[in-house]
Amino acid sequence: MLTTNIRLREWRQDDAPAVLAAFQDPELSRQAPWPVVTLQDALGWIASWDGVGHAFAVTLGGRVVGNVAVARIDAHANGWVSYWTVREARGRGVAPAAVEELARWAFRERGLFRLELGHRVDNPASCRVAVKAGFLAEGIERGKLVYDGVRHDVERHARLATD
Ligand SMILES: CC(C)(COP(=O)(O)OP(=O)(O)OC[C@H]1O[C@@H](n2cnc3c(N)ncnc32)[C@H](O)[C@@H]1OP(=O)(O)O)[C@@H](O)C(=O)NCCC(=O)NCCS
Repeated sequence: MLTTNIRLREWRQDDAPAVLAAFQDPELSRQAPWPVVTLQDALGWIASWDGVGHAFAVTLGGRVVGNVAVARIDAHANGWVSYWTVREARGRGVAPAAVEELARWAFRERGLFRLELGHRVDNPASCRVAVKAGFLAEGIERGKLVYDGVRHDVERHARLATD
């Protein structure tokens, strides 16, 4: 069932416990720029978006269930989208609904034209999120990411304001 009643809002300092809990998931921990193992780390993660991009807490029934963000905004009105959801909320369409809402904000409020994202080719769930949120696949970037000495291909997707 698609989740339609999610909300996006600014991250707040009192979300730090929810951020800390979310990053205990090994699938998420590698996405953080540093290990998020204390409340201080979680506060640092929230603060790290300042001046880098716009990150929104995704809430469902008032509970934080994920993050969507647009960063790397450049002079050509392009932006880079990222997202995660907490393990307990997965498989319910939270991420696609949140990315859809983020795209609407980025195009209409922020005036962006092109939103890009990339997912490892061995992350089909993320690919489904991109497709369901209207991001067309644009090709494979070979060996783009390295984790534990192993390089991974990444599929690039993008959605335009005119799509
Ligand atoms: C990828 C991710 C954001 C998907 O979020 P979500 O809110 O579960 O999105 P959806 O509910 O639309 O599920 C996406 C796909 O996950 C799979 N899925 C279904 N149930 C699931 C479950 N309980 N747990 C995990 N994945 C599930 C399905 O293949 C689904 O696609 P479908 O619509 O074709 O069935 C989430 O799994 C996540 O945060 N993963 C770790 C971080 C990550 O990979 N971020 C993206 C980096 S590019």
